[in-house]
Amino acid sequence: MAQRIEMQICLGSSCFSRGNKDVVMFIREYLSKNHLDDKVIFKGARCMGHCSNGPNLNINGVIIEDVALLKIESILEKEFARLI
Ligand code: FES
Repeated sequence: MAQRIEMQICLGSSCFSRGNKDVVMFIREYLSKNHLDDKVIFKGARCMGHCSNGPNLNINGVIIEDVALLKIESILEKEFARLI
């Protein structure tokens, strides 16, 4: 059975001020470009309580901190290598 990944990005104000909007746009494009839209459920989330280390991403229950635009591609590649 195909495994689905649930991924949430924090949309709280602190992560917003740390650039989560650009990261959201990058992730959306990445999922579409790699035909992962049906394998990855991507949603926004409320504050995850790790505000000073944001932007924060939660992938299948594991929080990844400091998801800056410069790092997001390598994070996604590592997470999704088995799906692409
Ligand atoms: S605002 Fe993102 S963890 Fe608090």
